[in-house]
Amino acid sequence: MTLSNGFSIPVPGFGTYKTPDGEVCVNAVREAIAAGYIHIDTAALYGNECSVGEGVRQSGKPREELFITSKVWNTERGYDKTLRACEKSLKDLGMDYLDLYLIHWPANRQQFGDKADSINVDTWRAMERLADEGVVRSIGLSNFYSSHMAPVLASANIAPTVDQIEFHPGLLQQDTVETCQAEGILVEAWSPLGRGRLLDNPVIVDIAERHGKSAAQVTLRWVIQMGVLPLVKSVHEERIRENLDLFSFALDDDEMARMSALPEARFGSHPDTVAF
Ligand SMILES: NC(=O)c1ccc[n+]([C@@H]2O[C@H](COP(=O)([O-])OP(=O)(O)OC[C@H]3O[C@@H](n4cnc5c(N)ncnc54)[C@H](OP(=O)(O)O)[C@@H]3O)[C@@H](O)[C@H]2O)c1
Repeated sequence: MTLSNGFSIPVPGFGTYKTPDGEVCVNAVREAIAAGYIHIDTAALYGNECSVGEGVRQSGKPREELFITSKVWNTERGYDKTLRACEKSLKDLGMDYLDLYLIHWPANRQQFGDKADSINVDTWRAMERLADEGVVRSIGLSNFYSSHMAPVLASANIAPTVDQIEFHPGLLQQDTVETCQAEGILVEAWSPLGRGRLLDNPVIVDIAERHGKSAAQVTLRWVIQMGVLPLVKSVHEERIRENLDLFSFALDDDEMARMSALPEARFGSHPDTVAF
């Protein structure tokens, strides 16, 4: 897929949330790159940036052939702290630039009252400086719904390229997706498999059987056909490979509609109510 600033972003991305730091993470990242992923998603919160960096180095793949994303955590919001947080992520990863840096969660009104919007705008100013300095190639948002995005968009000198949100059958996020499409912001799907909990859904299993594919593959394919970029996590080599085979088949309109009509389900937190 292509970002609004012209950079390419590989599909799918490889997720690392809850991938334990150390050998498990190093091996998962190395195996993922060996299998063919060139886009790795991590975050300071995940506590595994050192291992992600080590997995990348062990893969032997040149840094410039990879697309690496990290995120500034909620305790580091604001101008100065965001600049320092990025420096720390780069140091932990052992890299001198990021392809994409995201604000992990918006400050929300429930926790910060009237200050929420100005905190997000200040954090975004730091993101813009990082982009200007070239230490990050693209900047974006995560877990920003339309209402959180508006003040940032109104004051931005550099537009966000990405919004990474929970997105899967059962959580279509229509309002935010429409805002992103109108603004040229690419939507990335976190928990595209619903953390694995969608994989025994009878509708998904039925469609998977028709294609001779796994439930995970048809779910990831549905995300791509929705115009959204899936980030998928696994620490198992067989699944890591399975989740890459997404371009040898296509879902028809009826299958897309059946998956889009699954009942609402949310597996993570809502940005308006998170208190972390
Ligand atoms: N920005 C944010 O706030 C945010 C929040 C959550 C996630 N994310 C990002 O999005 C990525 C993906 O989301 P996620 O990790 O929450 O969930 P996910 O990718 O939807 O699901 C991961 C779970 O599904 C299992 N799984 C993966 N492939 C499978 C397959 N082919 N068959 C059966 N089970 C399979 C994994 O198990 P095994 O690992 O045991 O194989 C793991 O338990 C994260 O890793 C992270 O990078 C971002």
